[in-house]
Amino acid sequence: MRVLLHLPALLASLTLLRSAESATCAQTTRAAAISDTVSQVKVQVNKAFLDSRTRLKMAMGPEAPSSRQLSAYLKHAKGRAREAIRSGQVWEEALKRLRWSMSLTNVTDPSLDLTSLSREAGCGVTPAVVNCHWKSQYRTITGDCNNRRIPALGAANRALARWLPAEYEDGLSLPFGWTPGKTRNGFALPLAREVSNQVVGYLNEEGVLDQNTSLLFMQWGQIVDHDMDFAPDTELGSSEYSKAQCDEHCIQGDNCFPIMLPPTDPKVKTQGKCMPFFRAGFVCPTPPFQSLAREQINALTSFLDANFVYGSEPSLAARLRNLSSPLGLLAVNQEVSDHGLPLLPFDSKKPSPCEFINTTAHVPCFLAGDSRASEHLLLATSHTLFLREHNRLARKLKKLNPQWDGEKLYQEARKILGAFVQIITFRDYLPIVLGDELQKWIPPYQGYSESVDPRISNVFTFALRFGHLEVPSTMFRLDRNYQPWGAEPELPLHTLFFNTWRMVKDGGIDPLVRGLLAKKSKLMNQNKMMTGELRNKLFQPTHKIHGFDLAAINIQRNRDHGQPGYNSWRGFCDLSQPQTKEELEAVLGNTKLAEKLMALYGTPDNIDIWMGAVAEPLVAGGRVGSLLACLLGKQFQQTRDGDRFWWENPGVFTEKQRDSLKKMSFSRLVCDNTHITRVPRNPFQANSYPQDFVDCSAIDELDLSPWVSVEN
Ligand code: HEM
Ligand SMILES: *[C@@H]1O[C@H](CO)[C@@H](O)[C@H](O)[C@H]1NC(C)=O
Ligand SMILES: *[C@@H]1O[C@H](CO)[C@@H](O)[C@H](O)[C@H]1NC(C)=O
Ligand SMILES: *[C@@H]1O[C@H](CO)[C@@H](O)[C@H](O)[C@H]1NC(C)=O
Ligand SMILES: *[C@@H]1O[C@H](CO)[C@@H](O)[C@H](O)[C@H]1NC(C)=O
Repeated sequence: MRVLLHLPALLASLTLLRSAESATCAQTTRAAAISDTVSQVKVQVNKAFLDSRTRLKMAMGPEAPSSRQLSAYLKHAKGRAREAIRSGQVWEEALKRLRWSMSLTNVTDPSLDLTSLSREAGCGVTPAVVNCHWKSQYRTITGDCNNRRIPALGAANRALARWLPAEYEDGLSLPFGWTPGKTRNGFALPLAREVSNQVVGYLNEEGVLDQNTSLLFMQWGQIVDHDMDFAPDTELGSSEYSKAQCDEHCIQGDNCFPIMLPPTDPKVKTQGKCMPFFRAGFVCPTPPFQSLAREQINALTSFLDANFVYGSEPSLAARLRNLSSPLGLLAVNQEVSDHGLPLLPFDSKKPSPCEFINTTAHVPCFLAGDSRASEHLLLATSHTLFLREHNRLARKLKKLNPQWDGEKLYQEARKILGAFVQIITFRDYLPIVLGDELQKWIPPYQGYSESVDPRISNVFTFALRFGHLEVPSTMFRLDRNYQPWGAEPELPLHTLFFNTWRMVKDGGIDPLVRGLLAKKSKLMNQNKMMTGELRNKLFQPTHKIHGFDLAAINIQRNRDHGQPGYNSWRGFCDLSQPQTKEELEAVLGNTKLAEKLMALYGTPDNIDIWMGAVAEPLVAGGRVGSLLACLLGKQFQQTRDGDRFWWENPGVFTEKQRDSLKKMSFSRLVCDNTHITRVPRNPFQANSYPQDFVDCSAIDELDLSPWVSVEN
């Protein structure tokens, strides 16, 4: 099958070879071969990228969109991310063809000039190199110019960092599990969906809630994630392979890596042989080309900088602002509002999947700094709070400093909101996640270090997905007395994917925010891992369409990203590496779970990192196991210590400003930006109404007087 598909490519290469033979100077011919191959590949890749965009538009015609189309909307690369991914695709495809045509078995063969291939493929162009203004007090939108030695470190649209080398089936790009019959460490990999069915699923929602944490704890994790990483999908690279082959016929090839359903899976009857899956976008390798293995892109800045509010690229950042008045505001929705308070602007791009989930309500998706803002209702609610807070801060700053222009007001408010995200994450969120291991991984702040790498690591984008096990099956809306709100207070999660109408036409954000404060997160649990709302009904907001499985996607994505297995990461973290069932049992403290994993994988070495990590028992006082504590702790420590604009780094804020910032809280954010008047003192902890709630007047306000400017 695959040979047939690549026939045109083969022919093209043969032509190249023949022309190579007749030439006199081998060097020029080789350069010409690179140039020719790259331009041929470019034509194909451009076509594939163009087709996909058209298809995304057509797909959302009058028919309700499929889960696949909703997922495509969410994972769609835009702007510079798209350009960088396109170059990566051209690079990889051209390299493949050149190696074939020159009969090179060694990828780093010196006779292939990788520098000129890189240039021809357009690799150096995106993202463009920026001129840094080192004296600027503000971060760039792209995250460039944070590190003085390597200005691009932590910038958006670069490769995720590797803490361990990538592991692909062919050493370069194919995921393990790709070629039937090929093994990893001597064992065939189980189907991702099979693992999900046997290990991750559960039926009874009873007793799954975390008695100690509020729903905000889960939600904050997703906010943090959307501040730190986003690896959008790539498009198919070669035009011989059509999306229909992937979507409808489940034929694996090119960047299509369908999640095959086990024959006994109940979904087989309703949705066919597979759940479609597209591989993540990757970037060109960088000189000196030590490794040519696929490296996935991070479309966001690595820094904890509230980029989900402001965007990670300049064109989006500008679109999000209100530039028609010099007040430093973010643009707000001009059509609808929430009891007098602003909502996020609508994303004008049509068609909008949010409209399709309720064709009578006609409410589009929202536009925010992160493209996933409308993925579910509580996420959109959180984005709304941040939008309001920015505008509140900008207005207050204007009162204190009437001479400041719009740019100054915008940047100062943005700087405060970035500090807010850092403070809440490190003061309120991480202590619950890491429990007794907090100090071990994140010792008290000792100042900024230029030699700490702030980039998000590839493995972290899986580690942080532990949050998927904290998502409860329903969301609640509560009234001003924290009692069930309206006729439908409790809504199943799957009805809230891409659901913006419930906010715009059914109560606004206050009842939802109360739910975040007074309801509970789900507890990560070895026997009840992921709710069926995510594991069987992902992006199934209406009954018409089929649901996906987020656990299976996470596992398939592990392989897509060339992630080393469970034991490699245990070793990386200086933890024991179980080899036998008994040893795995000891690590997991759960015989049945160890048995299931051994039966599926054959060896603990092969357990997909996300799966193995969330299967571990929780560390004392924390909400993750030992391996996750290490991977998360290490990342957050680097994110903090490698950020020149970290809020505690001397010179970023004045001492008085820092003292003010320390009093910020999520409860105050709620008080200042909703009509809610009673909030908990510890909003991340489980709280009962009324005993754990206080009047907003009892919650510290942000004192902005240290921002009064003495000069200009
Ligand atoms: C209702 C809640 C949630 C839904 C529907 C959801 C859905 C998704 C989906 C569809 C993906 C993309 C999967 C892929 O294609 O590989 C994803 C990725 C991810 N999710 Fe969630 N998620 C939720 C909550 C959370 C929470 C609570 C956390 C963390 C505490 C989290 C962390 C992540 C991370 C780190 C990624 C990888 C992002 C990237 O780098 O591209 N998610 N989620
Ligand atoms: C490939 O070529 C490079 C550079 O000539 C050489 O260092 C390396 O050992 C070769 N690798 C193999 C597997 O032959
Ligand atoms: C921009 O700000 C002005 C002044 O506050 C306001 O009237 C207008 O509605 C805002 N526009 C947008 C798109 O937010
Ligand atoms: C669609 O939205 C309207 C409110 O505009 C609501 O009354 C109706 O129940 C919704 N329909 C569905 C199927 O959710
Ligand atoms: C629950 O929260 C309380 C108060 O923060 C804390 O003392 C206790 O250790 C927590 N229990 C667990 C199991 O995390």
